[in-house]
Amino acid sequence: MRRMALTLLLVWFCGSVVAESERLAISCGALGVELQLCQQGVDSWSSETGVPVKIISTPNSASERFALYQQILASRSSDIDILQIDVVWPGTLAPHLIDLSRYIGENTTRQYFTTLITNNTIDGRLVAMPWFTVAGVLYYRKDLLEQYAYTPPTTWQQLTRIARHIQNAEREAGHSRMQGFVFQAKGYEGLTCDALEWVDSFGGGTLVNHQGEVTIDNPQAIAALELASSWIGDIAPQGVLNYDEEQSRGVFQSGNAVFMRNWPYAWALGNAKDSPVRGKIGVIALPRGGKLGHHSGVLGGWQLAVSKYSKYPQLAADLVQYLTSYAEQKRRATAGSYNPTIPVLYQDADVLAATPFFGTLYESFENAVARPSRITGDQYARVSAEFYYAVHDVLAGKKSAAVALPQLQRKLERLSRDGQW
Ligand code: GLC
Repeated sequence: MRRMALTLLLVWFCGSVVAESERLAISCGALGVELQLCQQGVDSWSSETGVPVKIISTPNSASERFALYQQILASRSSDIDILQIDVVWPGTLAPHLIDLSRYIGENTTRQYFTTLITNNTIDGRLVAMPWFTVAGVLYYRKDLLEQYAYTPPTTWQQLTRIARHIQNAEREAGHSRMQGFVFQAKGYEGLTCDALEWVDSFGGGTLVNHQGEVTIDNPQAIAALELASSWIGDIAPQGVLNYDEEQSRGVFQSGNAVFMRNWPYAWALGNAKDSPVRGKIGVIALPRGGKLGHHSGVLGGWQLAVSKYSKYPQLAADLVQYLTSYAEQKRRATAGSYNPTIPVLYQDADVLAATPFFGTLYESFENAVARPSRITGDQYARVSAEFYYAVHDVLAGKKSAAVALPQLQRKLERLSRDGQW
């Protein structure tokens, strides 16, 4: 039925002599092989439907991408029909997005992780379809840990010791560029993710709790950030203060780091034919903050949404459904280790053969820790920015965690007007 309606629409669309400016446009991320995978998916849909699609690549930094989208949407521009949006944006961008449930039925949506469909449903409107989901994980060099007779760390304190020992021993052995640990500490959304994992894994909460109360000023959060700031210049280079995902991957993949915090996409690239660390990588859950802490991993991931200002919402919704379908997600999971948003794909033999930790870390993905975007709504970008500024100051040695976190607590409380966001 849907196909028939779409075919009729296509006849109209194509019959009306599609001008260059009238084709569909989709924004895709360009991290690692993201753009290439998006292009391939879009090309298959185009050849099936005959509708030309233009791909617009966007900045790698989630924070910069958000600013760009806000500008485009505020001007009600029809330049982008389909937007790739972060898991923390549906609440803020919802007024500019169409309700996809008009085109994508419950029979389809019920196959996806319920938490993601709930996350993307704002005031009863399904404003985006989950495309891929992620959680932060720990990458380590299996060969180096074996060589130095270590088992993979389960606490951050162990990681610190192992990283320091191997880094220094390797440097003495002539590998002068070796680093112990690389992660994302540039002042942007990525640092919010990393720092929330440190804090949460120490039992220090997630910045704002489910009731909307700001919780960041607590001893566990301070201890977590103190440990993280001790890494800079010890097991992590000063330059990490300017690293995003790709810069960390660059260092790790060229063989110059023992540990890396990153998202799952780095697995496929690290094991690519030309990768110097191919076959030498292990992936486990991020460490606990000491014996009393727990494993944590922040929920990340991207959704596809259709702009309210699109001239072709039905076609755009069809492309969204195609790109987020089982077959496309399987292709992306096997070729690029992009985590599916359809749970049954985690039992698919081809998917598990390509990325074994999708099976071993399934629970980490299912229980990934959400950033407080739902509760803080429109204010999330501001809350996150205040958090990463404060953490960046602590890591850069400008302030101690014991000074920065009470200040941040007060600032966020002022923003929240007593828990009302
Ligand atoms: C990844 C995650 C996204 C997060 C971003 C931060 O792209 O999927 O959710 O906001 O990293 O850098």
